Amino acid sequence: MDKKLIHRRSVIVESFETGSGLVIEGRLQDERFFPSYYYTRESFVDPGVIHGMRVRLQVSMPDMTIRTAEAEIGEVPLPECREIRESVGLLAGTPIRKGFSGKVRGMFGGKKGCLHIMNLILVMGSAAMQGFWAYYSRVRKDDRVRKPAFDESLLVDSCWLWRSDGPLWEKFRKAQNIPDALPRKHIITIDGPAGAGKSTIAREVARRLSYRYLDTGALYRALAYKALRKGISGEEGLASLCRETRIEVRLDQDKTSVFVDGEDVTGRIRTPEIGMAASEISALPVVREALLSVQRDIAKEGGIVAEGRDMGTVVFPEADFKFFLDASPEERGRRRFLELREKDPEIEAEGVLRDLEKRDIQDRKRKIAPLKPPKGAIIVDSTGLSVEDVVGNVIKAIDK
Ligand code: DC
Repeated sequence: MDKKLIHRRSVIVESFETGSGLVIEGRLQDERFFPSYYYTRESFVDPGVIHGMRVRLQVSMPDMTIRTAEAEIGEVPLPECREIRESVGLLAGTPIRKGFSGKVRGMFGGKKGCLHIMNLILVMGSAAMQGFWAYYSRVRKDDRVRKPAFDESLLVDSCWLWRSDGPLWEKFRKAQNIPDALPRKHIITIDGPAGAGKSTIAREVARRLSYRYLDTGALYRALAYKALRKGISGEEGLASLCRETRIEVRLDQDKTSVFVDGEDVTGRIRTPEIGMAASEISALPVVREALLSVQRDIAKEGGIVAEGRDMGTVVFPEADFKFFLDASPEERGRRRFLELREKDPEIEAEGVLRDLEKRDIQDRKRKIAPLKPPKGAIIVDSTGLSVEDVVGNVIKAIDK
């Protein structure tokens, strides 16, 4: 094949051991091999480097935490591109382990971010891990291999081989005495009143178990959103709304995205009005019936942490683990107020508490699928407990 080199992107990442940890140095360079017009500079320029940057991370071991992060951004199409350099310093304190890639994407992938530096740092993250393994698995002078205490979370969102769904996992697990992971198929339910912390706990439990997270309140909210938008109320109106509405979800470990007739409404349904409307329509049998099959269908593969009001009682009575999460009304009101204030600084605590109490009564007193602790559920009162404490209790109960 006749080919001519016109552009080269080089990404080189090197890991050095320093005695106290690792230094990871990365370079990214884009080079053109012919004179050309640069749209970003609005001029013709000679062949040469268009992007040239270096990043240096000092990483402590064995915790693999970035101690310092610095960037040199030499060649860039526009001087403004250099602004991103300061942000690189914000990586200090970040552990390079599970979730690292997501964090880097969040920091550098946004509107004011930089794809080049993001790509470079992502490569550096997994290269740092290779450096880590290279350090620990190296045969040293005394002919011995040093083994780190294996920590699964160090397998940065990277190589499937070693992950708990990969082919080497079982061997590794045995060698390292890691307790057997849960079979993937379990259904874990978390029920409880508004503001009890269900979402936070369910998300974290899902993350730790590599399960999917299902927020069933989001389904009721999504339907309420459409009902409010169309001005529909009453049983008949809602019955036809249910018939003609397509509700779909996409589940991740920390997020349930909901789509109403193909429209992503995830970001629009977390308002007090929609919460109240969801509570009202959720008392109607026709609504519950419509969403029952949606929920069961989503969970049929298992490997899910589902939170709501009737998970363990009605939707998944056969769930493998059931929890009922509660907290005092004051504590729940305070949490919900802090959550809503993030979006609306004007919101008043009293109104939030009033709404919560009203929803509590509606959710607990309704005839069909009322909120109550499911049979066999472990009841956790989270008043005064930290997220870590509650998650710890839940995981401990599952492990047992
Ligand atoms: O959890 P949430 O605040 O997003 O739920 C909104 C309303 O939806 C709640 O007040 C009652 C209803 N709901 C329900 O009836 N059953 C569920 N499994 C989840 C929510």
